[in-house]
Amino acid sequence: MNYSDIVMDHFMNPRNVGELENPDGIGQIGNVNCGDIMRMTIQVKDNRIADVKFKTFGCGAAIAVSSMVTEMAKGKTLEEAVRINQDEVARALGGLPEKKLHCSNLGTDALKAAVNDYWRKNGHPEKVVPLEDEHLEQEAEPQHACCHSPERGNGQSEGRMAS
Ligand code: FES
Repeated sequence: MNYSDIVMDHFMNPRNVGELENPDGIGQIGNVNCGDIMRMTIQVKDNRIADVKFKTFGCGAAIAVSSMVTEMAKGKTLEEAVRINQDEVARALGGLPEKKLHCSNLGTDALKAAVNDYWRKNGHPEKVVPLEDEHLEQEAEPQHACCHSPERGNGQSEGRMAS
């Protein structure tokens, strides 16, 4: 499968990996088809994404997508952030192979889920937006076993994981 240089760069050197302490919003979703999981934590200041971090248990494309989505989201208003769509992410990555396009949905939907979580917690349930794809919104526990378990390692060098 051919990946662009940008995809490879974000896969090899993912930006904003990890988890924010005391996040304002948490989005954790799973892909019903491949079982991959993505978790995003956001910090909100003046209605903008002040900081965002991700953990992804997924394929290389999903890791590159997560990294790119966090870069695109930083500094955006919450309303702008939930409008980032899979096509924009795929374009910013220099394209994704056809079979991997669905992976870009995981990134945009994890971000939407985190913003939705913020809106729900802060008295704005009317602002909640639907996810783009058929993803399972998971209960956002502080730590998820698949992302933190020592047996799984703690980096993509030990598996297909960025955390
Ligand atoms: S194969 Fe599951 S997100 Fe890419």
